[in-house]
Amino acid sequence: MLFGKKKGVAGLDIGSSSIKMVELESKSGNLNLVSLGFENLPGDTIIDGQIMEMNLVSDVIQNVCNNHQIEADKVVTGVSGHSVIIKNIVLPPMSREELEESIDWHAEEHIPYDLADVSLDYQVTGEDEESTQVLIAACKRERIDNIKQAIQLAGKSPVVIDVDTFALQNCYEANYDPTEDDVVTLLNIGASTMNVNIVKGTRSLFTRDITVGGSQFTDVLQRSLGLNFQQAEAVKRGVVDAAEGLEEKSIEPLMNNVTEIVAMEIQKTFDFYRATTDDNETQVHKILISGGGSKLAGLADELSRRLELPVEVLDPFRKVVIDTKKFDPEYISEIVPEMAVAVGLAMRGV
Ligand SMILES: Nc1ncnc2c1ncn2[C@@H]1O[C@H](COP(=O)(O)OP(=O)(O)OP(=O)(O)O)[C@@H](O)[C@H]1O
Ligand SMILES: [Mg+2]
Repeated sequence: MLFGKKKGVAGLDIGSSSIKMVELESKSGNLNLVSLGFENLPGDTIIDGQIMEMNLVSDVIQNVCNNHQIEADKVVTGVSGHSVIIKNIVLPPMSREELEESIDWHAEEHIPYDLADVSLDYQVTGEDEESTQVLIAACKRERIDNIKQAIQLAGKSPVVIDVDTFALQNCYEANYDPTEDDVVTLLNIGASTMNVNIVKGTRSLFTRDITVGGSQFTDVLQRSLGLNFQQAEAVKRGVVDAAEGLEEKSIEPLMNNVTEIVAMEIQKTFDFYRATTDDNETQVHKILISGGGSKLAGLADELSRRLELPVEVLDPFRKVVIDTKKFDPEYISEIVPEMAVAVGLAMRGV
């Protein structure tokens, strides 16, 4: 490039409660943080993964860029939730050409939607004399169009549409260099969706997106204690004096009920995985949590106790070089959980 600096590619995570953006660059074998931004979205802007307020989302994307000096004009974004179907399928041995020709036909029986309405992608994850193992991912086209529209309206160009749970895996692999024996569960607890990905080495064994998240805790407090959203959110986050006149003992059982649902859904995911595999040896060693919902005080310990597994916070910046003159370390450490998916998306851009 002769004039000016070449504009980069940013990871853009459009969550139901906030928008996060991260730009990375690869320099002499290191990943450097170039820019990072985070802005909240008002409630009901995105419902069930569907952007309801197109202009609002595009305005917030622009605000994130303007307020945090993000110059990238291309973005990698992700989808998650019910409109995304991910399956590991086992097919007879075949050449890549044969697979390419027959993938729609094979995928059809695993996807509950008309293939004409979905965008389908696949990747060969293993091959031997008896089989070809293929990971398929499909997303409703209307969902992808909905997201692309918001991004284009913000003046950005969507170059890759990834899947949140794989972005999370990407983030994990780049930061943790797992060996073939490392079996972990990546758990991203957002506001409305929880992504679970059981990963062995660099291979995803099973994924599940569950519509439970941090907002469930807020909802329960709001409804049961007659609070508004802001009050309930503050009580949940343990803000001092947020719950004037409320007794600790009225809050705890409400929170425990939701924690119980979260733990049960993770346990169910483990059970579903076991039911789909004949491999009885693979054991999950630990859970790496992320997402704003994972910041709830005591949640990680409680999940560890109930699931009888160590729970650690995933550090999306473990191997990322951060210039502390440019970024406040205190602020970064505060938003570490929320940035995991955005960092994984940004990694696709470098
Ligand atoms: N300190 C905290 N304590 C408890 N909960 C918190 C804290 N900080 C953030 N949260 C919760 O985290 C959630 C937001 O997390 P995140 O930003 O990962 O979600 P999202 O990406 O917007 O949502 P989704 O991916 O589900 O669409 C909210 O429910 C918020 O209340
Ligand atoms: Mg999210």
